[in-house]
Amino acid sequence: MTFRKADWPRKLRSHEWYGGSSRDHIYHRSWMKNQGLPDDLFDGRPVIGICNTWSELTPCNAHLRDLAQRVKHGIYEAGGLPVEFPVFSTGESSLRPTAMMYRNLAAMDVEEALRANPLDGVVLLVGCDKTTPALLMGAASVDIPAIAVSGGPMLNGWFRGGRVGSGTALWQMSEDIKAGRMTRADFLDAEQAMSRSPGSCNTMGTASSMASMTEALGMALSGNAAIPAVDSRRRVMAHLTGRRIVEMVKDDLKPSDVLTREAFENAIRVNGAIGGSTNAVIHLLAIAGRVGVDLTLDDWDRLGRDVPTIVNLMPSGKYLMEEFFYAGGVPVVIRRLGEAGLLHKNALTVAGHAIWDDVKDAVNWNEDVILPVDRALTRHGGVAVVKGNLAPRGAVLKPSAASPHLMKHRGRAVVFEDIDDYKRKIADETLDIDETCVMVMKNCGPRGYPGMAEVGNMGLPPKVLRKGITDMVRISDARMSGTAYGTVVLHVSPEAAAGGPLAIVEDGDMIELDVEARRLHLDLGDEEIAARLAAWTPPVDVAESGYARLFMTHVQGADTGADFDFLKGGRGKAVPRDSH
Ligand code: FES
Repeated sequence: MTFRKADWPRKLRSHEWYGGSSRDHIYHRSWMKNQGLPDDLFDGRPVIGICNTWSELTPCNAHLRDLAQRVKHGIYEAGGLPVEFPVFSTGESSLRPTAMMYRNLAAMDVEEALRANPLDGVVLLVGCDKTTPALLMGAASVDIPAIAVSGGPMLNGWFRGGRVGSGTALWQMSEDIKAGRMTRADFLDAEQAMSRSPGSCNTMGTASSMASMTEALGMALSGNAAIPAVDSRRRVMAHLTGRRIVEMVKDDLKPSDVLTREAFENAIRVNGAIGGSTNAVIHLLAIAGRVGVDLTLDDWDRLGRDVPTIVNLMPSGKYLMEEFFYAGGVPVVIRRLGEAGLLHKNALTVAGHAIWDDVKDAVNWNEDVILPVDRALTRHGGVAVVKGNLAPRGAVLKPSAASPHLMKHRGRAVVFEDIDDYKRKIADETLDIDETCVMVMKNCGPRGYPGMAEVGNMGLPPKVLRKGITDMVRISDARMSGTAYGTVVLHVSPEAAAGGPLAIVEDGDMIELDVEARRLHLDLGDEEIAARLAAWTPPVDVAESGYARLFMTHVQGADTGADFDFLKGGRGKAVPRDSH
């Protein structure tokens, strides 16, 4: 199968700006020529945007201007005109209150930039966590030909002979300090070892998960996700992506052709097989919302339930993205799923053919990194969606990162009203808590934080850690870093700040988690719950002005992707009017 929806040559969208001799056409071309562009570059060839999330404030994407040059080479070679432009870059490691608050802002930036400019197609340069979904969401809403290329992960971190995984090691070392197993001086020594090359997090965190999702959705060329940022093959990938987008424009291959229900189902299964981030749940729901695919939390549970986690990467396993690349990367995983009957083999990709065509001959070069099914990290990977009177619209848990002995647990709630309350109390030796308790945190959802921070993997109390305990059941409406681990129930919906039942949990209430039965239950009678909810008042005021007000007024629940209500669906590429 080779996709071709339109004949070539034909008049493209950019022709409206550049393709004539009127005053306006001269106006549009003349200003572009101040960059030294020869006249024949405006001869009707595809004009390709390179939508760049480069920023020195987003260190994971700080090398993307170099990659953009490689993309340009490919575009010129294939007969297109490349034009690079910046968009809001959501740097996970620095943005406050949380990068997630700006995902939708970045998506709006991308959408408006694509629609308002004379672009026939776009290459999305992505990397750090939210940059990937933001650009996919914006491009999906405009629906011009689009293809992503990721910046690639950092090289392995090494510290005193051991692998240092981005994020995962940070959480682990910080727990070791609290438990007295590591000194502050050693922690500072490890700092440089954590991030030793350009690129995004080297664990199977959110950035690597979303890069893998992009590949599984068919929105990037096969093999894109795992190539390290500094490997010469990353530049080759960028170069080939530049060539490919020109052909996509000629063939009129758009996101709506690729982002089908089958593509999302493939991605959900790949996420299970790689032990991917729970953040992928929110982002895929949001992307699906932009193209009108009715994806739900239940799809995540149903499709991921029987997918074994076979990629042995931190935080669920042992290795890092560099080794995943050497082992064969995402194509090997997709091939495995195909052989197990868990893949829509005919799903179309940006390559213009079926996903199976690219992966059917993929070779696994290291069976300790990409495991055989009989040695899977967990037989039931994916994302478990639990529901009950504590989470009527659902909550998620990542089984591959959880402790088997806590998957069915009943415990006494120890409640933190918000993240500040948690920070105030957690190290207090008089806090009435032990390892059998269930830690509950409220008001960290999309509206409550605002932005839904990655604080759901609350660190354990020092007095519990000192006993050698490393995991407890934790429940919140927050997210968790894809690099984190533990028996952590996240994204409880509706969130506390929106009046979900999480808001009325009190210290001493009993909570039951049963992952196998997909149940999350607050052991209170319906009347007691109703009475407490009736007495509840919202703890969070909507911000008075600015983007925070827009966000808090329009953000939707995590169970539907936390997109803005007014951004759902596509708005197409038509420009309402031209003012010149
Ligand atoms: Fe940017 Fe992890 S902080 S990818």
